[in-house]
Amino acid sequence: MCGIVGAVSQRNIVPILVEGLKRLEYRGYDSCGVAVHQDGGLRRARSTSRVAELQAQADQDGIAAGTGIAHTRWATHGAPAVHNAHPHFSAGPNSGNPAGAEAVGRIALVHNGIIENHDELRAELKARGYVFASQTDTEVIAHLIDHLYSGDLLDAVQQALPRLKGAYAVAVFCRDEPHRVVAAREGSPLVLGVGEGENFVASDAMALAGVTDQIVYLEEGDVVDLQLGRYWISRLDTTTGRFGAVQREVKTVHAHSGAAELGPYRHYMQKEIFEQPVAIANTLDAVTGISPELFGDGAYRVFKEVDKVLILACGTSYYSGSTAKYWLESIARIPTSVEIASEYRYRDSVPDPRTLVVTISQSGETADTIAALKHARAQGMKHTLTICNVATSAMVRECELAYITRAGAEIGVASTKAFTTQLVGLFLLTLALAQTRGHLGEADEARHLKNLRHLPVAVQAVLALEPQVIAWSEEFARKENALFLGRGLHYPIALEGALKLKEISYIHAEAYPAGELKHGPLALVTAEMPVVTVAPNDALLEKLKSNMQEVRARGGQLYVFADGDTAIESEVGLHVIRMPEHYGALSPILHVVPLQLLAYHTACARGTDVDKPRNLAKSVTVE
Ligand code: G6P
Repeated sequence: MCGIVGAVSQRNIVPILVEGLKRLEYRGYDSCGVAVHQDGGLRRARSTSRVAELQAQADQDGIAAGTGIAHTRWATHGAPAVHNAHPHFSAGPNSGNPAGAEAVGRIALVHNGIIENHDELRAELKARGYVFASQTDTEVIAHLIDHLYSGDLLDAVQQALPRLKGAYAVAVFCRDEPHRVVAAREGSPLVLGVGEGENFVASDAMALAGVTDQIVYLEEGDVVDLQLGRYWISRLDTTTGRFGAVQREVKTVHAHSGAAELGPYRHYMQKEIFEQPVAIANTLDAVTGISPELFGDGAYRVFKEVDKVLILACGTSYYSGSTAKYWLESIARIPTSVEIASEYRYRDSVPDPRTLVVTISQSGETADTIAALKHARAQGMKHTLTICNVATSAMVRECELAYITRAGAEIGVASTKAFTTQLVGLFLLTLALAQTRGHLGEADEARHLKNLRHLPVAVQAVLALEPQVIAWSEEFARKENALFLGRGLHYPIALEGALKLKEISYIHAEAYPAGELKHGPLALVTAEMPVVTVAPNDALLEKLKSNMQEVRARGGQLYVFADGDTAIESEVGLHVIRMPEHYGALSPILHVVPLQLLAYHTACARGTDVDKPRNLAKSVTVE
């Protein structure tokens, strides 16, 4: 998703800005750009190609200076095209320059998020004589700031912000103030990086790794004025209607550069699938026993005060939450509902203050999940916990309690190791709640802990199935549709398998609880329809076998991941890969791995851009 980097320095900051963009590349984008204050004016390079190409273009055009901003764009308003790429320039009727001319604009601006009242602002600015060069919602902000500018950029930005409706992070500089960048956030993440005699902004501390480790996490509504060797943070005081100074803590953050080596792997996704044993082991590293305090100080008191769980998440994280519902209800005996964050935030639901609100997020920055969390809190549900992979993220800062998964930076857009480590965190949460509620004896705790600790070895054994999965993927690569079936605890795993396949191979894939097959999807089953089935040896196995017969009777091709002792054997129309061991309650963590591999190898066989699938972003910081 969109990324911002900005700097005010005495040195040429173009390489730093471009390197910062490279570190944000994994989030997904479709165009990029950089603008600097050079030779008394604004200069920029923009591209619909990769960031590496942007660097080449900037070098060729001799773009180099100490003040600048850069951006990766993920299109929301307006096609992915150079004229829509940020930075946007504004040179209006009052700015002393004709509009639209390169190198002579007055305001340069980058923006993440969505401005909801852009139509209204556009009409107003057009009436004032502003000419629009793009279809973006962003360009209205540049023109608005230009219109309000009268010699002080901070003042112009502070006047403009209250007129914007929506979510945003912006960074802006002005032709008339060479050593100044002003940035602000409201709903999209932004950090300030404090250097020696120089200052930076970025949408993630990771973008500034190696440049500065002195980071301020800006809060909603903060405006930061960056100059050489000084910065000033302010925010609107709603009682006085004026902006006043605020102090924010500077933290030392050892951000991962994200530029992890691929090693022997073809793609980050493959690497991350194979990192799962280590990621799970790291996530369990500090766990010596089950206790609420694994989730933070005061967790025991909170767990005692709740008698319901509400899980809020998006995408893959929603499916880990859906899996956890089965655990929480059957092991901890606590009623649990799981909601897609983008739906929940606008739904007129019935709040219950005795609810533990659990958000799940790899990035900790997903706009819908953060908004859903705030919505739940605004409805009086004060007990909040997050399962998150980024300790410094907005989600962790917003929640009362947290469990940090230790998957390490996940670069591939399709989430893999974040998912399995989330499941580990959620299983620990289940056990801790079960303990608090009197449903976990010492023997059960010891048994579950033993199984958790054996997971890295068990996942390793599943990864060894890769050659068999590759053989199947060659068949799948020729298909345009696929159906995934699972039951109970493994229904969300079927959903996740279908999501992986569609995200990266662009094959239309749907998942159904196998018992629901006869109520519709069976109509789709022909010899052309591969039906992937997740078949653990659990209480629903015999039911599942009947559902498989329904598929076979219609000539469907079954591809089954079966536990060893299920007595499901390969025959015509029935292909079986045998899982190394049956894993009881933790079985979903094992069964998802071959589905990840199947999606990955199918996508490779179809030649797609596995790590950066079309139209998708890693960290979705817009609604
Ligand atoms: C995007 C990513 C998915 C991810 C989802 C939720 O759609 O491409 O991989 O599952 O966002 O992200 P989160 O960071 O909140 O887990």
